[in-house]
Amino acid sequence: MSIIKGRQLIAEGKTKRVYLHDDPDKVILYFKNDITALDGLKHDVITGKGYINAYITKYLFEKLEKAGIPTQLVEYVFPNIIIAKKIQMLPLEVVCRNIAAGHLVKRLPFFKTGQQLNPPVVEFFYKSDELHDPMVNEYHIQALRVASEREISQMKDYTLKANLVLKDFFAKRGLIFVDFKIEFGRLTADNVIIGDELNGDSMRLWATLDGRRAFDKDGYRSGDALERVRETYIEAFKVITGEEPLKEGLES
Ligand SMILES: Nc1ncnc2c1ncn2[C@@H]1O[C@H](COP(=O)(O)OP(=O)(O)OP(=O)(O)O)[C@@H](O)[C@H]1O
Ligand SMILES: [Mg+2]
Repeated sequence: MSIIKGRQLIAEGKTKRVYLHDDPDKVILYFKNDITALDGLKHDVITGKGYINAYITKYLFEKLEKAGIPTQLVEYVFPNIIIAKKIQMLPLEVVCRNIAAGHLVKRLPFFKTGQQLNPPVVEFFYKSDELHDPMVNEYHIQALRVASEREISQMKDYTLKANLVLKDFFAKRGLIFVDFKIEFGRLTADNVIIGDELNGDSMRLWATLDGRRAFDKDGYRSGDALERVRETYIEAFKVITGEEPLKEGLES
């Protein structure tokens, strides 16, 4: 029997549902098979995607934990559930870029796609679907009372450390870690940890420097056939974890 049966749903977004756990310090994150892009304008369902993204999140969060970077991970439950620490999510997206691509190049065209960014560029975006997640700086964040100076400094520190750990890890797998997005939540006053998720939907991961072979969501964004998109998720599972996905998971 599924562990979410009869549980109270406390939040639902485009790709996950959050349920109450018996332990008030924990929540149950259920990864859906839904895939969206363009602020939810484009929407489809891909069998097995919830499994792939939950498993990759668990896999990468474990890597970060081993490197001393705190995440919400408590336990993974096959196929598509993560038991997480209950945290107060901050309405921010923290992006870190090693190579110029996507939104950065659109916004600041003097950066060319594929150009190395050294030191890496860290950006904050205020989460608001109506406003299309506008970029904000550290002063805006404090003026908005969204996070304290100490929390902002923790977010920058953990983001840059996570970047080093992941960049190194992916390089060993022969992959180019272009950029990624993480979200933070407050565990206790003035103390944030990495929440939400970390997988192919929240990063650009290239096999070649021109970005023409990639293990991320850009194929879906640019209109690839759904079957091709599904294959990319399965390939991402294999290249990131070095493991074979389970048939039962892919069919879930
Ligand atoms: N550990 C956690 N504790 C409580 N809520 C969490 C936790 N991790 C993630 N969430 C929340 O789960 C919700 C659902 O996630 P999902 O990614 O589907 O949302 P979304 O569609 O990206 O939209 P949004 O994040 O803007 O609500 C989000 O509101 C997210 O902040
Ligand atoms: Mg999300």
